[in-house]
Amino acid sequence: MGFSSEWEQRYAENTHLSVWAWSDVVSLVHRHCKPIIAAGGGRVLELGCGAGANIPLFLALGMDYYAIEGSLTIVKQLHQRYPGQVDKILVGDYTFEHPFESSFDLVLDRASLTHNNTISITKALQIAFDKLKSGGIFIGSDWFSKNHVDFSGGEASDDEFTRSNYTKGQFAGVGKVHFSDEAHLRDLFANFEILFLEEKLMRRYEPRDHHQFASWNIVARKA
Ligand SMILES: C[S@@+](CC[C@H](N)C(=O)[O-])C[C@H]1O[C@@H](n2cnc3c(N)ncnc32)[C@H](O)[C@@H]1O
Repeated sequence: MGFSSEWEQRYAENTHLSVWAWSDVVSLVHRHCKPIIAAGGGRVLELGCGAGANIPLFLALGMDYYAIEGSLTIVKQLHQRYPGQVDKILVGDYTFEHPFESSFDLVLDRASLTHNNTISITKALQIAFDKLKSGGIFIGSDWFSKNHVDFSGGEASDDEFTRSNYTKGQFAGVGKVHFSDEAHLRDLFANFEILFLEEKLMRRYEPRDHHQFASWNIVARKA
């Protein structure tokens, strides 16, 4: 089981409702998916779409949008907001097989797989690989880095990269959090050709609380 049920509770409490497209996702899609967009849009699968922040971007680009999300509460809200997508936004755990036909041009994951443990991420990446067309693109954005200050917080869980039970900070109450380094990402994406890999580090000076955010963006192709 990959999905942490804590997400269901967070959405039922009306928290974590990000609805503006994430700027890194906008940039990465425009930089790495030009041929897909130019050819008429293509099919995109989002893993863990949450409150749907990235949906308007893909609809505006004319892409055929699909998503799998573990929280029933948030999926019901998305069905109300996007009645045309009811059959394309499913409740489910993407670490298990899902009913969407293969041949996606793009699989997007923003900060979702990074809320699973290593075994579940490996399974989800294999399924995503199988669902992509040859030459298809995987974009992973905001996979938390071991340089994030909270890598030393919470409690050890499942494997050396995964922690849980945070009681404060951005990871409070969201179950598992996975932290990667470069070598681990290269292992996880061994089946893919990595086209782009960057680590974002943000150190806070005011308030002076020594907070450091760190996450990875990765773009990989099914060769
Ligand atoms: C940090 S939120 C990101 C939401 C969205 N991708 C965004 O960029 O705003 C993580 C989401 O992943 C979902 N999620 C985590 N693990 C999942 C799994 N194994 N299967 C389906 N959804 C999952 C959670 O329910 C949550 O909505």
